[in-house]
Amino acid sequence: MSGPNTSYDPVEVAALDPAAVEQAVDEALAAFAAATTLEELKAARTAHQGDKSALSLANREIGALPPSAKAEAGKRVGAARGRVKAALEERQAQLEADRDARILVEEAVDVTMVPGRRPLGRRHPVDLMGERVADLLVGMGWEIAEGPEVEAEWFNFDALNFDADHPARQMQDTFYIAPQDSGLVLRTHTSPVQARSLLERGVPLYVGCIGRVYRTDDLDATHMPAFHQIEGIAVDKGITMAHLKGTLDRMATELFGEGITTRLRPSFFPFTEPSAEMDLRCFVCRGTDPDCRSCSGTGWIEWGGCGMVNRNVLSACGIDPDVYTGFAFGMGIDRALQFRTGQSDMRELIEGDVRFDAQFGMEI
Ligand code: DAH
Repeated sequence: MSGPNTSYDPVEVAALDPAAVEQAVDEALAAFAAATTLEELKAARTAHQGDKSALSLANREIGALPPSAKAEAGKRVGAARGRVKAALEERQAQLEADRDARILVEEAVDVTMVPGRRPLGRRHPVDLMGERVADLLVGMGWEIAEGPEVEAEWFNFDALNFDADHPARQMQDTFYIAPQDSGLVLRTHTSPVQARSLLERGVPLYVGCIGRVYRTDDLDATHMPAFHQIEGIAVDKGITMAHLKGTLDRMATELFGEGITTRLRPSFFPFTEPSAEMDLRCFVCRGTDPDCRSCSGTGWIEWGGCGMVNRNVLSACGIDPDVYTGFAFGMGIDRALQFRTGQSDMRELIEGDVRFDAQFGMEI
């Protein structure tokens, strides 16, 4: 504040000069009008209404005036400050209203919008096919059994009538569990469950097993070192090959649809006699295309092995082969799936890409 102004001359107190006051008001109003956000308005307010603003300075100068001049100057400055305050309030209200309107638009929630669903996992098609077969077998009055994947060599080979020097026993076909004399292998087929079931459950026996098996195959488009089989064994009085054919035909219809043609082709397995391979009529060419990639032009797709349970297997499990007969089968699930879906590369089955599973599977 200036010192006491004994010889008052309003011109000398620059801050109180009417033109200066008027200019301060104009500048303030212009600054408020120019502010387009509440932050900018706050800055303008500090500049034009704060302690260091021209009008605050003028206001303080009033104290230094002689009493006779105070009233007039006070009125002028007061009116000026009043106009600035009113303009500020008006702009403040305007900008707040603008902000609120903007927020209403920007943060609007459409309660009618369908929410984006988080992608769900899918059941693996191998599991689904296994379950379909299990359902079918259970529907026919069969039981479902499981066996260990690390299996005794005895169950995997000996109980199934494999000779001691059978080529399947060799290390290049079978994964052996260390140490070498452990007597354990990764089961090469689900057939050991036949022997286990005969021993554990006895006869009559109607048992299916769906599970993973291992062979020392390299992974490529048509081979996997781990794959899946459906095993079945029925042992009772009076079982014939006709029962086998009827059961497999029913299974093929269930998995591949009505009208699928099957055939049995003579084959050999140590644990069945007689033995056969079951083939499916090629879905793609139905035997009409010599260049068909699905069946290599043969018109048939190999699905698995089967036969009448070998007498030696029944005997090894303590069952009298003169009283009881049975049939057994072992089918590949992965192959069947590849065939059913027209998938050219088996590796897709194990890559774990949910988009692959989603094509075939239901949601969890
Ligand atoms: N276990 C055989 C394999 O993996 C398939 C098989 C053939 C299973 C004949 C059977 C059967 O039950 O009776 O190649």
